[in-house]
Parts: sequence; structure tokens; C-alpha cells
Amino acid sequence: MSKFILRDILQEYDEIRREAAQALDLRRQEIAEKVPEVVKIHQDMIDLMAQRSREIILNPNTSSDAIDQLQEQITRLKARQLQLLEKKGYPRDYLEIKYRCSHCQDTGYVGYPVREKCRCLIQRLLEKTYQMSNIQELDRENFSTFDPMVFPEEPLENSKLNQRQYMVQLRDRLIDYVSEFPDNDKRTILFTGKTGLGKTFLLNCMAKAIMDKGYTVIRISAYKLFDQLFYSAISDKSDYESLQSQLFEVDALIIDDLGTETRRNNYTTEDLFNIINERTMLRSHTFLSTNLGLSELKQRYSDRITSRLFDTSNTMLIRFQGNDIRLRQTAK
Ligand SMILES: Nc1ncnc2c1ncn2[C@@H]1O[C@H](COP(=O)(O)OP(=O)(O)OP(=O)(O)O)[C@@H](O)[C@H]1O
Ligand SMILES: [Mg+2]
Repeated sequence: MSKFILRDILQEYDEIRREAAQALDLRRQEIAEKVPEVVKIHQDMIDLMAQRSREIILNPNTSSDAIDQLQEQITRLKARQLQLLEKKGYPRDYLEIKYRCSHCQDTGYVGYPVREKCRCLIQRLLEKTYQMSNIQELDRENFSTFDPMVFPEEPLENSKLNQRQYMVQLRDRLIDYVSEFPDNDKRTILFTGKTGLGKTFLLNCMAKAIMDKGYTVIRISAYKLFDQLFYSAISDKSDYESLQSQLFEVDALIIDDLGTETRRNNYTTEDLFNIINERTMLRSHTFLSTNLGLSELKQRYSDRITSRLFDTSNTMLIRFQGNDIRLRQTAK
């Protein structure tokens, strides 16, 4: 399965590079019409660069002063070119190719002579494997779209803050957490609370912010995750192993709605235990949300799982309280 996914993604990357090159061609044509002097300068620069290379390769005795002089001329022309572009209202990088990923320049691979997958390619592979719709969902739900006004000013049990103030404080705490990522003291976060309190929204905020920092993220509901593991376990062992190693290795694993997965005797609990155990040992980051209370979690999962999940030396337990904001939205 993963071989086909990789092939498809590399085709996507080819397409992205082709589009970027076409877009650059169009910008060049536009500049050739509107600021022809820039094109002339560009040609002069290419000539000088060729001359410089020739001197270095063919005439090893050329003085370094002569090479420096050529370089100076090139630099001057470049500055002049940028000046002209800016004068006409164009951005300085208008004639440069725009890569989506500056590390791999949209090839998917980095490093020489040993080529490794770029983080953007690993992330894309995870998105496809786990069918995450990151672009649509995370564009909608992220720290910059977080809206305190969706929460009522409802007083909360055992807190001086009302629901809105509590959520704003929590948002700020998680923004700090992400800015420290991955060097946080506590590497597991467990959100508990009833439905419609903003748990998934905040998990999405964290996913986007962590991906924006260049780390890999799997974000999946427990229901989907354990189904996917189960069906691969019974159909293709190597598929199962590759899913498992991705779940162990990803920088941040986000499991939403723990407790909604189908119970399949030992399968689910073994998988969950392996994931939690391995990631705790590796000191990796795992964020979970659940509608279950702590005692319900204890009832549902073995001590081996809950003792790790509730270990406060590594886990931040965050309780969501208040009124369901979905009901509030429909009541408006
Ligand atoms: N901070 C926020 N700003 C704007 N909209 C929000 C915010 N938090 C939640 N919402 C919206 O409120 C609705 C409910 O939030 P969310 O899905 O995060 O709740 P939940 O706690 O995960 O619920 P459940 O336990 O049922 O999964 C969603 O439509 C979500 O987009
Ligand atoms: Mg949710």
C-alpha cells in the first residue's frame, strides 16, 4: 500500500514543481513587457557569471582580484535589478521560483550524497496513510481562528474563572506549550470533558502549530485509528508493521475521542498499550481527548494503560467543563 501512496505523492510533487516553474515563466514574461530593462540586466548577469566560471575553470592563474571584480559587477547588477523591480511595485523575489518547501525545493528529498525523505514528504505520507484532511480542517481550526466568544461566561466548579476565561487561559497555555515543543517537561496531554467543549478544536490548533514548526503530526480519531490497525493486522502484516512504526515515530501523535473505538477483545487494548508504552519510553509527544471520566477510563482500559496515561510526572491532565457550545450555536 505505502509504495503506491509514495508514488502518487511524488507525482503530486512533480506537478507542484511544474506549476511553480510555469508561474515563474508567466512572471518573467510580464516583466519582459513591463520592465524590459530588468531582462537586459538579467542577460548581462548571466554573461558575467559564465565569464566568471570560465576564468575559474580554464584559467587557474587568473588573479583573485579579477574574479572579485567580476563578482562585484554581478552583485551591482543584481542590486540594480531589484531596485528597478521595487520601483515598479514588484516584490524583490518576483523573479525567483516559489517553493512550497524551501528545504527540499519540492523534490521530497534532502541531503547529499545520502538522500533522505524531507519532513514535508513524511508528513504528506502520513496524511495520505491516515486520510487526514489537514488543509481544510486546520485552515478552519487553528490558534488564529480560536474565538473566545463561542464560549459562554458560565461559572465553573472549583474555578474562579468562567468558561470563556478558562478557555482563553488554556489556549495561552497551549500556545506556550507548542512554542517550547519538543522540549516540554510533560509529553502526554489528556483532554477530558463532555461533548461540545472545544477539545477537538484545541487539538487541531496544536496540530497545525506543530506542523508549522516543521514537525510531523498524525491526527486521527481513536475509532478510525484502531479500525485501521485492526484491518491491516488481519490482512497484511507488513502494512500493520509499517502503520505501527509510523505511530511510534511521528513527532506528535494526536488521538481524538478515545473511548469511541470498537472494542475487539485484546486487539484494541494491546495496540493502545503498545503505542502509549513505546511513545512514553521514547519521550515522544502524545495528545489525547476523551468524553470519558477518569474512572470510566480506568474501567475500560487496563492498569498498564491508565497508570501510564495518568502518570502526572509526564502527563498534563486537562479537564474541560461548562456548557456544550454546539447547543449554544444552534440556539442562536
Ligand atoms: N475556540 C473555538 N473557536 C471557534 N469555534 C470553536 C472553538 N472551539 C470549538 N469550536 C467549535 O465548536 C464546535 C464544538 O467543538 P469541538 O468539536 O472542539 O468539541 P469537542 O469537545 O471536541 O466535542 P466532542 O466531545 O463531541 O468531540 C465545533 O464546531 C468547533 O468548530
Ligand atoms: Mg471532539
